[in-house]
Amino acid sequence: MAKFLSDTELQSINSWITKLERGGRRSYAETDVIEALRLRYKLMGTGKHRLVFDMGNGYVLKVARKKSGITCNRNEVVLYEQAPRSLQQYLCEIVDYGDGWLIMPNMQRTVHRRKHAKKLAKIWKRFLKFGVNIHDVLRKNNRMIRAGNVRLKNKKELVIIDYGNWHIERNSG
Ligand SMILES: Nc1ncnc2c1ncn2[C@@H]1O[C@H](COP(=O)(O)OP(=O)(O)OP(=O)(O)O)[C@@H](O)[C@H]1O
Ligand SMILES: [Mg+2]
Repeated sequence: MAKFLSDTELQSINSWITKLERGGRRSYAETDVIEALRLRYKLMGTGKHRLVFDMGNGYVLKVARKKSGITCNRNEVVLYEQAPRSLQQYLCEIVDYGDGWLIMPNMQRTVHRRKHAKKLAKIWKRFLKFGVNIHDVLRKNNRMIRAGNVRLKNKKELVIIDYGNWHIERNSG
């Protein structure tokens, strides 16, 4: 496997994750996390659980910003590795990972939140049949895509970029 992170980068991520695992605070301001990590990458996305950095090489690095983010990243890896091919095709590829972090291709093509919703609802149902509820990809009775979590792979095909919350309750912080 290609090496995506340097030893120094791994070390600073690891010590941040260790801090979270040991308890840490319930949540941290974005700037505190960025300062603790001291990565050379630009922040490109923020979620409730993770910070997403643009590695500048076509990939993004997702790092837990609080304890639940570690679980999200682990969930994402487990689902990606255990999903059958027929479902894995809808999940953004994970090219490398460790405790509390993972690396994915940077997906830039945004979806049409309403036009693509039907297609995504079908995909969501297929995951339900598999026993996994990727609940936060849709909203408003499945008529709208939660755009932050889904991208277009090409002109037509959807790819889910946030599939780490499938066991976490909708309103958990
Ligand atoms: N593979 C990717 N390519 C491009 N942008 C991404 C990718 N993964 C995540 N992002 C960006 O980073 C944001 C946060 O990532 P993600 O949704 O995975 O974090 P989260 O903490 O699980 O979010 P949430 O608040 O939805 O639970 C996304 O909304 C998106 O804008
Ligand atoms: Mg998200």
